[in-house]
Amino acid sequence: MKVVIPAAGLGIRFLPATKAQPKEMLPVVDKPAIQYVVEEAVESGMTDIIIITGRGKRAIEDHFDKSYELEHKLREAGNSEALAEVQRIASMADIFYIRQKEQLGLGHAILCAKKHVGNEPFAVMLGDDIVVNERPCIGQLVEVFEQMKASVVGVEQVPKTKLHRYGVIKGRKIKENLYKVEDLVEKPTPAEAPSDMAIIGRYVFQPEIFEFLERIRPGKGGEIQLTDAMKLLCRRKSLYGLKFKGTRFDIGSKADWVKATIALSMQRKDLAEELYPSPQAVLRRSKT
Ligand code: G1P
Repeated sequence: MKVVIPAAGLGIRFLPATKAQPKEMLPVVDKPAIQYVVEEAVESGMTDIIIITGRGKRAIEDHFDKSYELEHKLREAGNSEALAEVQRIASMADIFYIRQKEQLGLGHAILCAKKHVGNEPFAVMLGDDIVVNERPCIGQLVEVFEQMKASVVGVEQVPKTKLHRYGVIKGRKIKENLYKVEDLVEKPTPAEAPSDMAIIGRYVFQPEIFEFLERIRPGKGGEIQLTDAMKLLCRRKSLYGLKFKGTRFDIGSKADWVKATIALSMQRKDLAEELYPSPQAVLRRSKT
């Protein structure tokens, strides 16, 4: 299954850091955010990846490209660990790039991949969302897609005060953690929110979504909204919402980006001891 990663957004929520660099390249610990997303796809067995880029996004292509000079220097320095890592990044997936020439919205960005995806099911992963879990989130969605033979979106319960940041579903629970989606609203006001189940940036679609994307008009914010196409999809065909297992960080939000950095650094053996020393270690250090 192919994966589409839209990465053409301007990163306005993260200014000034994103004034001259793509938001997808912001590091979380020591990896750019988009690398976590690509790794999640690869861990789920999906290595055919289409990244939708735009102006000012070259750093993304460079990141996943071979870096002859860097490799040469690392080899000369005998730094085999760093060498293996940069080589792994350049070879973990087949990545294709499509440029979205105008910023017309998420739905439009996905439509840019139509020709390349063809008439096959495909996954969409948004670079703003990092999901930490042993079983990758997108793999969980693919499993439901295979059982239900219908499009699936990842959903998560979020506090009512944060619902206006997301697409929100109205769903009928059909089994543990699975909802049949009956309606969706993009970035609702508290009064408009049909539930507290928000869409996260993980989707698996039947190719029919393209038909609906072509049909819709600009919605919220004057943009071609993926959520609006999904609204048509759930009325005419089927759409499921999976309450996935894992911790999701919306790293487009500054607070969540800091939380992700802390949580992921805690999992790193090479950093955790220095950053989060045990009381014994602090005592030992204060004596020296
Ligand atoms: C997009 C979608 C929204 C979804 C969100 C998940 O919004 O339009 O429905 O809930 O991603 O992160 P954006 O973050 O691009 O504003």
